[in-house]
This record gives sequence, structure tokens and C-alpha cells, in this order.
Amino acid sequence: MDTTKTQDSAEPEGEFSPQWGESAPKGGRTVLNRVLREGNNVPLFLGQTFVNSLRDVGYSNTTSAVCEHVDNAIQAGATEIRVYFSQDRGKEGNAIDVLVYDNGKGMAPHVLQVAMSFGGSMYYQNRAGIGRFGVGMKTAALSMGPVLELYSWQDRAIYTMTLDVNEIGASRLNVILLPEPRLLDNLPSQISTILCKPMSYPKDASQQDVFASDEDDVAERLFETGTIVFIPDCDRLTHKKAQTLVDHATREMARIYRKSLGSGLNLYINNRRIEAFDPTYWMPNARHVRIPDLIETRSRLINSWPDIQIPLLDGSSETAPVSVRLYMLPIEAWSGLPRKVQKNDLQIFEDHLVSFVRNGREVHIGTVKELSGGRHGDSAWLRIQVDFGGELDEAFGVAMNKQGVRPKKYALDAIREAIRGDVARIREKTAAFRAEHARKASKAGLTEAERRANEADAFQGKPIPQPAPSTDEERVVLEQNLRHFAIGLKRDEETDEQAYERIRTSTYITVFKHDEFWPFYHVESKLGKIVLTINSAHPFFSKLYEPLAGLVSGSATEPDDLSESVDATAETGGSGRLVVALQMLLLSLARAQSQMLVGDEAEQRQMVFDTLGREWSGNLKTQLQML
Ligand SMILES: Nc1ncnc2c1ncn2[C@@H]1O[C@H](COP(=O)(O)OP(=O)(O)OP(=O)(O)O)[C@@H](O)[C@H]1O
Ligand SMILES: [Mg+2]
Repeated sequence: MDTTKTQDSAEPEGEFSPQWGESAPKGGRTVLNRVLREGNNVPLFLGQTFVNSLRDVGYSNTTSAVCEHVDNAIQAGATEIRVYFSQDRGKEGNAIDVLVYDNGKGMAPHVLQVAMSFGGSMYYQNRAGIGRFGVGMKTAALSMGPVLELYSWQDRAIYTMTLDVNEIGASRLNVILLPEPRLLDNLPSQISTILCKPMSYPKDASQQDVFASDEDDVAERLFETGTIVFIPDCDRLTHKKAQTLVDHATREMARIYRKSLGSGLNLYINNRRIEAFDPTYWMPNARHVRIPDLIETRSRLINSWPDIQIPLLDGSSETAPVSVRLYMLPIEAWSGLPRKVQKNDLQIFEDHLVSFVRNGREVHIGTVKELSGGRHGDSAWLRIQVDFGGELDEAFGVAMNKQGVRPKKYALDAIREAIRGDVARIREKTAAFRAEHARKASKAGLTEAERRANEADAFQGKPIPQPAPSTDEERVVLEQNLRHFAIGLKRDEETDEQAYERIRTSTYITVFKHDEFWPFYHVESKLGKIVLTINSAHPFFSKLYEPLAGLVSGSATEPDDLSESVDATAETGGSGRLVVALQMLLLSLARAQSQMLVGDEAEQRQMVFDTLGREWSGNLKTQLQML
């Protein structure tokens, strides 16, 4: 193959004329024209364009691209890994440099060269570790910036190589070969500066544990072996500010690498040490355990299935084991915690329902309907962790960039079969707790909506028919009936007398019920009272009532949280009015129905109302499912 020909070739014409864009690499154009004209010597990869195209291999965010380098470091046996997002204000355009240091086993010069090649790997198709495709380091680096500098040392002899997309694009060689690694005396000062100066973020320098005190110390601190990946002047990061990048990476990596962190890995991001975050709240040394005043620090392991066998491919008889663990968070202890603790410290309402962990490294977390059920208040308190090995990459749909999973149906079916009963039990338990909580949270006394609806009765055109006892005897009977009625509506924390007082003084009574088969609301009129039942099992509750109530406490984005929702009725300011208005919408409906239940047609109308309630609920449920 002729790899030396570099002279420019004349542009071919007609059907041989390539229609490349303006920004296409010039060297690539030359090679292509030459190839078209000569009709032979076509390389399998046109390096100039291919490397450029690889910049667009989709990493969903900067963190997941940086994770490829952390993966490699962990696989190289590193016990210390440092990630830097260095933003030097003096630098043009505030450009950010990304650097990943590790004290792993490093690479000998020829390994370094192999590592730099696309497809080059020391673990190709090895399913036991994290790497297996031979592309992660290169594609992840290029997805962030056009230049990748690699430094690696064994016995302190530092070798370096650079991959520069623009330089490659300008090459006129048919086949581009990697250069020999260069031996260095010292790390370039741009790099040692990053290693010994505090970063501009985190602002509080006391949070930063710098690698070395000065440039001389850097050389001392480099252990016998190690590697640095450096991507200067990144032009494609998810965020423009180092602070946002650091915070995102901190949150994600604390969870993604929780197992390694739990067993002693020292991972730093901008010199701040990362503590493991366990979304299942099971690890005894994870971050949440140190939240002040947290009485219950662990979730409950409801069940575990250490050995669910899953076919490697659909229909294949060869299988590999998956381990599944099902947890329920301590809802009793945690549902009353302050919002800030629930949200920022514990992250209870993040979408963390199902975590997929491949060879000890989390590859995906989120809701998987088939396993956890939809994301909704009754599932917010359950967690599922699925641990599998690389042999099952096909079954779980692990792609080359190891971001996310796309589990095949047969894999999900096998897991669901095992866990569904227990998952249903957790959801039911949560639902029961929430309904109970809703009842309690409305506190003794009337809700805001009930109180205001009572006040408004003076202004309503049609009065609600009230029992009118004319004799003492009738009055006694009415009181007895009311007491009896009140006991039926008594809240847990109320005495009989308190319940009677509440019912006696209010025309409107709101109760919550949890029943899959009930309409979303129900109205009953009795003894001059209007009882409105709201069904917490209907999506009306989880998708409208609760989120609206949640607005009050700033939780509109987390409609799954019930903890404060009904308390909201006590508040009248700001968005608190919204939920009161919604309750009034229902109370006025209740009132209208009650008004219409007089006279000869009362019974027939009751039937119509019941049917309307059922039909409306069915239609609403169907529609809300689309949300
Ligand atoms: N930090 C490191 N320390 C030691 N060796 C490394 C390091 N980073 C990369 N390597 C070497 O470079 C090779 C290529 O890395 P790369 O991430 O591109 O592919 P991979 O890890 O083998 O597979 P994958 O594409 O699945 O990540 C690795 O196989 C490994 O031998
Ligand atoms: Mg890799």
C-alpha cells in the first residue's frame, strides 16, 4: 500500500466529484481526490475524516465522557484518581482544560501506542472488567476537545503521545500511523501547575486537598507508575463553568463508583474528595450515614435474588447470573424529615428507582416500568439494584460508550417474574402509608378549603337543606346521629369529642381514601353535611392534587412526594391558594350535587351522579395516563 504519496492531486470531475462541506479536513480531501482518481489504495479508514467524525460519538454529558478515563484508571488498579476541570481566568475565552490523573499501573511505551489507536486495547472483548471495546479513552476525550495528550510512566520514565484531530485532518497520507511515544524529563508545567495549585472552584480552599505543594513536589509525588490524560482547551463541554461541571461530576461519580469508593478508592474532583452515595441506602460507609440527626440510616432489604439466570442471547441455552436486590426506604422515619434533608442530602425523590451495576460500576439509574412500575408516589420509596457481569452486555443492551442500558425483553421478563410480588407489596405499603399520612396531615380542625367554603355558604344562592329538629327529643336524636356519624369520620389523632365538634361545626368534610376501584372523588350528603372523598389511588391524586399541593413547598418538580402536600391546605399565601382553590372546585361540585338531591328525583339523580363519577374517573384515568 502506498502511504508516502503526498503531492496534491487534481480535483476529479463529474460523478467522482465529492461534495464535501467547507469545514471538512483538507488533508482528507486530498487523499480522497487521489483515491478517486487512481481508483486504488483505499484505506479501510479514512483517518482524516473518521477521527473527526468520532468527535460526535454521543456522550450524553461531560461527566459520562470523563467517566471513561476514570474507568480506565480503576481498571489499571489505581487507588488514587484525580479529576480536574481547570478554568484559568487568564485564558482566552475562559477555556476549560480537563485532566485525569491516576496512580495505576501505567503503560509501557509500546502499550501507550496501542492505547492511542482506535480499537487498541489490552482488554479487547474481555468481559470481566470495565473496558472491552478499545475506544473509550479516545472517543471520550475527543468528544470534549480536539486534542488528547497522554502521559504515562513506569519506573518514573514519563512517555507521552498526542492525538490532535486538526493535525490528523491536515495529513495527506493515505494511511496515518501513530508516532513513537516521546520520553520526557518532566511533566510540562501546564500540567504540574494544575496538580499543585488550588482550583478556582471549590471556592473554599480548605475543601481542596491538593496533590502536591509545588512543581518539584509534583515529581516527588508521582508514584512509580501512573497515567495522566489531558484534554486542553475543551470546546465541547456540557457546561461553560467549571463549577457546574464539578458539581455534576461529583454527584454522578459518587453514585456511579460507589462500590470502588466504598472499598477504598480515593477519588478527587478539583481536589475535593468524593464520598460514595448509595441510592439504595444500604452501604454502611456511604455519605448519607453521616447526615446529622438521621436516626434511621438504612433502608430495609425486602428480598434478594442472588442468582437469576438470564440467557446471553434471546433463546440461547447459555445463561449467566444476575443478582437483584429489592429495598424499601424507611418511609416512617424519613417522610417527616425537613425538605432540605430529603431533597439535597438524601436525594429521595431523584429518579433512582432501578440501578444497573455492571462489573461493579453503575451504568444506568432510573425508572424501568417493567421492574419498578411507573414513577409515581407509591414507587418513590422503593429501590432495585441489578448487578450483572459483562457477559450479559447483549441482554442488557450495553453500548460501546457504556452509557445507559437497553435491556432486552427476555432479560426484563426473567427479573420481573422473580420480583413482581415483592415490588407490589412495597407499593401497597407505601400507598397505605401515604393515605394515612394524608389523613393525619390535614390535622385536627378544618382545612382551609373547608373553612372558607363554610364562610362562603352565607353568600350562596341556594342553601343546603339542613335538618330542622323542632322538639327536644328530635334534637337529641339528631345529636346522637351526628355523634355516630362523626365517629365514622374520626381521624386517628382525634378523640370522639373532637371529631364530633369538627363535624358539628362544619358543613364540609373532606376525607381521603385509597382504593384502586373507586372514582377519583365521591360525594355523600347526610344530616346536612357534605362529605367529599378524594381517592389517593387515582391518578387525579398523584398527577394533579399532589403536585399542586407540592407547589407550596417548592416541590413542583417532584410530584411524588406526599410528605407536605396536604399540610399545604393550611397555607393560604402564594401557590397555597391553588390547592385550596382545587379543593373548592371539588367542594362546590359536592355542594351542587347535594343541592340537587332533594325531592322526588333524589334517588334517581344519586344514581346518575354515581355513574357520572365512575365514568368521569375512568376517562380521566385514561387521559392522565398519557401525561
Ligand atoms: N489510565 C490508564 N492506565 C493504564 N492503562 C490505560 C489507562 N487508560 C487506558 N489504558 C490502556 O489503554 C487501552 C485503551 O483504552 P480505551 O479506554 O480506549 O479502551 P478499553 O478501556 O480497552 O475499552 P473501552 O472502549 O471499553 O473503554 C486500555 O485497554 C488500556 O490498556
Ligand atoms: Mg476504557
